[in-house]
Amino acid sequence: MAGTIATMKSITITLFPFLIVILAICFSFCDANSNVLCIESERKALLKFKNDLVDPSNRLSSWVEGGDCCKWLGVVCHNSTGHINQLHLAAPLSVPHFDAPVGEWEAYHRSKNNSPLGGKINPSLLELKHLSSLDLSNNNFSGIQIPKFFGLLESLTYLNLSQARFRGAIPHNLGNLSKLQYLDLGCNQLEGVVSESHFQARFLNSFVIH
Ligand SMILES: *[C@@H]1O[C@H](CO)[C@@H](O)[C@H](O)[C@H]1NC(C)=O
Ligand SMILES: *[C@@H]1O[C@H](CO)[C@@H](O)[C@H](O)[C@H]1NC(C)=O
Ligand SMILES: *[C@@H]1O[C@H](CO)[C@@H](O)[C@H](O)[C@H]1NC(C)=O
Ligand SMILES: *[C@@H]1O[C@H](CO)[C@@H](O)[C@H](O)[C@H]1NC(C)=O
Repeated sequence: MAGTIATMKSITITLFPFLIVILAICFSFCDANSNVLCIESERKALLKFKNDLVDPSNRLSSWVEGGDCCKWLGVVCHNSTGHINQLHLAAPLSVPHFDAPVGEWEAYHRSKNNSPLGGKINPSLLELKHLSSLDLSNNNFSGIQIPKFFGLLESLTYLNLSQARFRGAIPHNLGNLSKLQYLDLGCNQLEGVVSESHFQARFLNSFVIH
C-alpha cells in the first residue's frame, strides 16, 4: 500500500515538468495560431492607413507593427479566412450590447473622451479586398473630399461617412459599388449634383444624404 503511494508520488513528480512543457507549448501554439489569422499584406495596409491619420487621443494604440491585426481595436476579420472584412472607426464608439465582453466596454468608456480621427485617408485601404463594412462616422476629416478610391472598394456593403466633416462633391464612382446596401453621407458639407450615376449600386437599401 505504502509502496503504491510512493510510486504514484514519484510519477506525479516526474510528470510535473512535462505538464509545464505541454502547457507552454499550448500557449505558444495558441498564440502562433492567432498570428496566422492576420494577413501580412492587410496588416501593412492598415499601418499605412494609420500613418496618414491624425489620432490625437491615440485610439489606434493597439495598431502596432507585428501585432495580430485581427485583434486591433475596430478591426474585424473573417472568422475562417482571416481577411479583414470590417473597420469600425466611428467616434465615439457606439454603446456595446449589455452583455458584451469587458474589453469592449472598456474600449467604449475610453472612447467617450476621445478626440475624433482626422488627417488623410491612405489608398492602402484598397489592399483590403474583402472589406465589406467601413464606418468612419463622427470623425473630423476637416474638409477633405470623400476619396474617389472609395468607389473601388468593391466588396463594400456598408459605408458610413456621416458627420465626418467631408466636403465637396460626392464621387460618382460610389455608384460602381455594386454590393453596397447602406450608404450614409449625412451631416457633411457636401455639394454638387446627385445624379443617376450615384445610384448604379443596385441593391442600395438605405441612402442617407442631408
Ligand atoms: C463564422 O461566421 C459565419 C457567418 O459569418 C457563421 O455562420 C459561422 O458560424 C462562424 N463560425 C465560427 C466558427 O464562428
Ligand atoms: C476639426 O478639425 C479642424 C482642423 O484640425 C479643427 O479646426 C476643428 O476645430 C475640428 N472640429 C471639431 C468639431 O473637432
Ligand atoms: C452611421 O453612423 C451614425 C453615427 O455613428 C449612426 O447614427 C447612423 O445610424 C449610421 N448610419 C447607418 C445607415 O447605419
Ligand atoms: C464606374 O462604372 C462606369 C460605368 O459602368 C465606368 O465607365 C467607370 O470607368 C467606372 N469607374 C471606375 C472608377 O471604376
